Amino acid sequence: MTLAPLVELNDGRQMPVLGFGTYSINDPALFVEAVAAGYRLLDTATRYDNETQVGQGIADAPVPRDELFVTTKLPGNAHGTDGPRRELEASLERLGLDHVDLYLIHWPNPSADLFVETWKAFIELRDAGLTTSIGVSNFLPEHLDRIVAETGVAPAVNQVELHPYFPQAEQRAADDRLGTITQSWTPIGRGSDLLQNPVLAEIAAKHDVSPAQVVLRWHTLIGAAPIPKSATPDRFRSNLEIFEIDLDEDDLQHIAGLETGQRIGGDPRTHEEY
Ligand SMILES: NC(=O)c1ccc[n+]([C@@H]2O[C@H](COP(=O)([O-])OP(=O)(O)OC[C@H]3O[C@@H](n4cnc5c(N)ncnc54)[C@H](OP(=O)(O)O)[C@@H]3O)[C@@H](O)[C@H]2O)c1
Repeated sequence: MTLAPLVELNDGRQMPVLGFGTYSINDPALFVEAVAAGYRLLDTATRYDNETQVGQGIADAPVPRDELFVTTKLPGNAHGTDGPRRELEASLERLGLDHVDLYLIHWPNPSADLFVETWKAFIELRDAGLTTSIGVSNFLPEHLDRIVAETGVAPAVNQVELHPYFPQAEQRAADDRLGTITQSWTPIGRGSDLLQNPVLAEIAAKHDVSPAQVVLRWHTLIGAAPIPKSATPDRFRSNLEIFEIDLDEDDLQHIAGLETGQRIGGDPRTHEEY
């Protein structure tokens, strides 16, 4: 069984470099199976409406809770000073936990312009021990600059859309400057033709692995932390077996050539998460 290596966060904690995305999975047995397969990071969100099932999976998992890294996210309609504590307490109730390992602001929702107050509340939640680490999701460099200027606290993690079609070099550089780990959502390009791309097929054949494994290994080699989702045990097991894949410079250059600059998901400048 493979366990993902750990990465150091800027708050002194550690996080598995590859985790299990749970969006649209509602069967606790799949979370149990993912942990049995070696996943130690489970990524959920209040908006995924599956925290209760994730919590059931954690309770039934074959390893103790303190060996797991549980992430959840604040819904957009709870931005502000009081919403974060109310929402995190409700998430913890659903998850059956006394703390999460990482709490993220799901989207910046810039038109509401409450993300600075929200971040201040997150710092208090961390200080109160309801979450071990705090971070953000879908924050552009300008959003990061504001929260750091106003609080002096940089997020441990920024979870953003990232895959070979949209590799986010500038965003990653902005995250790096703060010591913030860039975590990749939609890492294998859900709903796109990424995994059918002939360039990836060729690299996959050369290393005798799957296109998804090539892409996930690429994430870890560029310094990003992917959270692939699969509800298919054979797939999610293979998505973890990537750390021995020896992609070379030539492979990395070919993957760099796949960039289109097109997002699959929402644009943080305009997307309003409810
Ligand atoms: N912060 C945010 O705003 C945000 C936004 C989106 C997602 N996320 C997080 O990121 C996670 C991952 O993103 P995602 O679910 O959008 O997309 P993804 O992980 O890029 O892709 C998931 C899709 O790929 C398929 N798949 C998985 N492994 C495969 C393999 N080895 N070979 C072929 N197909 C494979 C899955 O199918 P099967 O399930 O049928 O196997 C599913 O259809 C989410 O679950 C969620 O936790 C966060």
